[in-house]
Amino acid sequence: MTTLLINIKELLQVRETPVSKVSGSDMNKLPILKNAYIYIVDDVISDFGQMETIQIASADTIIDCTNKVVLPTWCDSHTHLVYAGNRAQEFVDRINGLSYEEIANRGGGILNSAKKLQETSEDELFAQSAKRLEEVMQLGTGAIEIKSGYGLTTEAELKMLRVAKRLKETYNFPIKTTFLGAHAIPANYKGNQDGYMDLVINEMLPKVAEQNLAEYVDIFCEKGYFTLEDTERLLKAAQKYKLIPKIHVNQFNAFGGVALGVKYNALSVDHLEELNDDDIKALQGSKTMPVALPSCSYFLSIPYTPARKLMDAGLPVALATDYNPGSTPSGNMNFVVSTACIKMKMTPEEAINAATINGAYAMGLSETHGSITVGKTANLIITKEIESYNVLPYAFGDNNIENVIINGKII
Ligand code: NIG
Ligand code: FE
Repeated sequence: MTTLLINIKELLQVRETPVSKVSGSDMNKLPILKNAYIYIVDDVISDFGQMETIQIASADTIIDCTNKVVLPTWCDSHTHLVYAGNRAQEFVDRINGLSYEEIANRGGGILNSAKKLQETSEDELFAQSAKRLEEVMQLGTGAIEIKSGYGLTTEAELKMLRVAKRLKETYNFPIKTTFLGAHAIPANYKGNQDGYMDLVINEMLPKVAEQNLAEYVDIFCEKGYFTLEDTERLLKAAQKYKLIPKIHVNQFNAFGGVALGVKYNALSVDHLEELNDDDIKALQGSKTMPVALPSCSYFLSIPYTPARKLMDAGLPVALATDYNPGSTPSGNMNFVVSTACIKMKMTPEEAINAATINGAYAMGLSETHGSITVGKTANLIITKEIESYNVLPYAFGDNNIENVIINGKII
């Protein structure tokens, strides 16, 4: 099967020469072809160019995109999409004055989600997660990372990762999985943090690796959760299994997690709502992608990641949702892109780069996703009729997506 998209008003993120990520002032450069076409053969981008140079005479399916914008699908490099139920009651509790921290200290928060997940069957967990995945695909997400971390027992952690793998196979969709056993200390290990780290390192980690359930390892490096020592112990142990770090750092406090991540060659360091000059220095010259999660800042009313500061220091930035039941009950990358522009003062070009090519990099997918490049997977967003791509982040409450193409097919 072949597909030809023609009369595209603006074709965004065209990279004839492939790049793995964009950094610093290059983030403000979004390569665009106006009045363009793109030719897809099966599930791969086979050709693109200016309409007046088109040499393709026919295709099985022709999609007229007059007055529409076409761009690569969003690459959401940080989610906790596999979870059970929701935490709407905690949302109301926060409105009524309790803090995120207070809720967690009373056994709510991550432990609340873990209890729900442990009590949910694998099939039910799959059904709930599949619904979320289908929804975010319709919102233009064409590649996603999914973490464990709401299991907190060996069996429940493995169950989460099996569900994520099953989603990948069922939907033939690019899903990268991350083992986040060290997400919170379960109630039965309260006061015995080392004991829980032993379980994560000596029992969970080997099983995850043996069963080939994850490519990445994560830890919530934060006051009240896991220390720098816990983090270093885990990252060291994970090296033996070739699990690459992608870690939660600097959400509420900056105390050296970024530099530690860089030391262990983390693919990404995520959150960074709190960021100091030492963190910036540690990132400079590294291969680690800083990932901002603006929907989390929005929902918890915490600071936004200082993306301008990162880019001014010559660094790249990626944007992701953090889709999870506690701090970000939304997997909508359009809202993320909009919020990055509105609240973080990223330009539309920077935000789109951050949500496509840099997102792909942050989950090891930039060779196949994140740009319009011959040979890459044909995962594309077709917008409704809009004046220009600026309307996407501008009209923050609208859904301006008309169609999403995954593996060369409209879904
Ligand atoms: O990335 N910060 C740690 N983990 C999640 C939220 C956890 C929860 O509240 O369920 C996050 O924000
Ligand atoms: Fe997260």
